[in-house]
Amino acid sequence: MSPLFRNRRAEMSRSIVVTAALPYANGPIHLGHLVEYVQADIWVRYQKLVGNDCLYICADDAHGTPIMLSARKQGIDPQVLIDRIHAEHAADFRDFSVQFDIFHTTHSDENRECASLIYNRLKEAGYIKRKAVAQAYDEEAGMFLPDRFVKGGCPNCKTPDQYGDACEKCGATYSPLDLIDGRSVLNGSVPVVRDSEHLFLELGKFETMLKAWLEDDHVQPEVRNKLVEWFEAGLRDWDISREAPYWGFQIPGETDKYFYVWLDAPIGYMGAHKRWCADNDGDFERVWKPDSDIELVQFIGKDIAYFHTLFWPAVLHGSGHRTPTKVYCHGFLTVDGRKMSKSRGTFIAARTWLDHLDPQALRFYIAAKLASGVDDIDLSLEDFVFRVNSDLLGKVVNIASRCAGILKKRYGNQLSAVLDDADAYAEYAAARHEVGALYDAREYAKAIRHITALADRANKYINDAAPWALCKSEDTFEQGRLVCTQGVNIFRALITMLAPVVPRLADGAAELFGTPLTWDGLDAPLLGREIAAYKHLMARIDKKNVDAVVEASKPAEPMEPPKPAAPVYAPVADTITYDDFMKVDLRVGTVLSAEPVKKASKLLLLTIDLGFEQRQVVAGIRKAYSAEALVGRKVAVVANLAPRKIAGEMSEGMVIAAGPGPAEIFLLDVDEGAVNGMRIK
Ligand code: 2FM
Ligand code: ZN
Repeated sequence: MSPLFRNRRAEMSRSIVVTAALPYANGPIHLGHLVEYVQADIWVRYQKLVGNDCLYICADDAHGTPIMLSARKQGIDPQVLIDRIHAEHAADFRDFSVQFDIFHTTHSDENRECASLIYNRLKEAGYIKRKAVAQAYDEEAGMFLPDRFVKGGCPNCKTPDQYGDACEKCGATYSPLDLIDGRSVLNGSVPVVRDSEHLFLELGKFETMLKAWLEDDHVQPEVRNKLVEWFEAGLRDWDISREAPYWGFQIPGETDKYFYVWLDAPIGYMGAHKRWCADNDGDFERVWKPDSDIELVQFIGKDIAYFHTLFWPAVLHGSGHRTPTKVYCHGFLTVDGRKMSKSRGTFIAARTWLDHLDPQALRFYIAAKLASGVDDIDLSLEDFVFRVNSDLLGKVVNIASRCAGILKKRYGNQLSAVLDDADAYAEYAAARHEVGALYDAREYAKAIRHITALADRANKYINDAAPWALCKSEDTFEQGRLVCTQGVNIFRALITMLAPVVPRLADGAAELFGTPLTWDGLDAPLLGREIAAYKHLMARIDKKNVDAVVEASKPAEPMEPPKPAAPVYAPVADTITYDDFMKVDLRVGTVLSAEPVKKASKLLLLTIDLGFEQRQVVAGIRKAYSAEALVGRKVAVVANLAPRKIAGEMSEGMVIAAGPGPAEIFLLDVDEGAVNGMRIK
């Protein structure tokens, strides 16, 4: 039946793989994200409802420097962070009825396989070249610094304390080497410039192919215009490698080089599909081969169009794969006409919304605003309350509550055997074709307008017929049932059309009818049967709950201007075995004397009583501790470290201290009661 499954054929329907952009695994899903996931989810639900073979694929984008830094700041392994975020994202999507067929991660075996295969093929085909890149190098830490490991003043607007890739204030992008007074975030040192060899995809070699792809109706007109501008500006080589330390996949055949996150992120679509195929006997090759008969439809935000309309088709084509059938861009979400803002409480996390408000209501509002272009959409909080209460509840659900309510009260839930007006019903049922075409064209706002206009017409019919009066007199009793039956069937038509937008509400309606909602099932009205007793389907939105969401989204403390860069913990070194660790002989000692080392401003020469002997130890703690303060203090000493000359003085051990230095160094606290020479375990 389905060509998305191996060895099966589809005769009647389209076969479509749909993707939505992969969210970074270092923060919560927010309303801005939801615009896209809901937009794609509505599209997929519509395709499935009309019988098309459709897969909705997503994954967490789980690599890159921000995730590595975030994990370090929290003192946890990146794997722990991305696992936790994955579970949170999955719960948010579930609760907003965003129903992926798979929600995978880019940090997976499948993605590693796909990324390696693609890279090797690009390399074999001569699309990868090596170039030296001048990069910031931290001499104290002995490593190249990724963009976000350098902070300093923005070279454009001079705002201090900006990361090395882009300015949060003015949006300028630059190299870390351009920062004013750039410093390593590891230790505050001034990085030096060193050359390192990077790998580049030669994008220019794809110009002819990309121009032909562009003209072939794969993108919206606005995006096409943007692409023409990019072609005019020239296609530059794309740096696809990053130096260690980096959280990602190592590049095959290279030492200490990793794929830049944006190389393996879109490949994550394939990785997730590969995993879905493994779990569902799917036909992976059929989808990704160059002449695939399966549509690949990708929903993205306009900010990542460059990656999806230039790099990504080039990477696919250059590695012998198919290119996307459609890349659909949407605009950004504003709240009350302005960019989402933490201080105003309009940067709203999905979970915060769920704590106070109905997710179906937001889906409805997003749909009511979305068109097929790249314009931004605005969530006006007041308009949200009004639209949901007046259009969804006051118009559509109201039909059910009135007609099914009367059927329950007066008619034992029994529908009549015929409709009051079969021709009128047929018009409502046939409207699904127009609404369906609007969904397919991503003109959701128009679809919602069409449905609410139908609901207006239905409410007028019910008002005019007044079944609540008809049911009270014996003469008109059966006429009352006919009107209610007509109303319930119209509601069934409207809620079936709305099912892609408000699936949970549609599930409630299906329970009322005692039968699932199907697209073509609308050709046959429900007649001569009993329906379930009407139950409240959805609550009205109370403005108080909207206010509560805004309140809960405000920072606990008033937001302060950004502070200077907090020291970030140095990268964790290569693992050592337990046995290696056990070789360290850590002992309690007491500082007997302390004096400055003449040749070095940061060092002190300590004499330490280890109980069984006295040792001379050089320690880099002079900026943090005065010599006087140290005398008599208990310290932890590595007692079996090979002696070594430091700044002209022999050092026979090491005292244990931690911190980014030089003034922020903290000695390990050893209890006063500990006896000199005692082993520390
Ligand atoms: O911009 C973002 O949020 C990216 N994580 C989107 C990646 S989409 C795909 F390419 F993986
Ligand atoms: Zn700036």
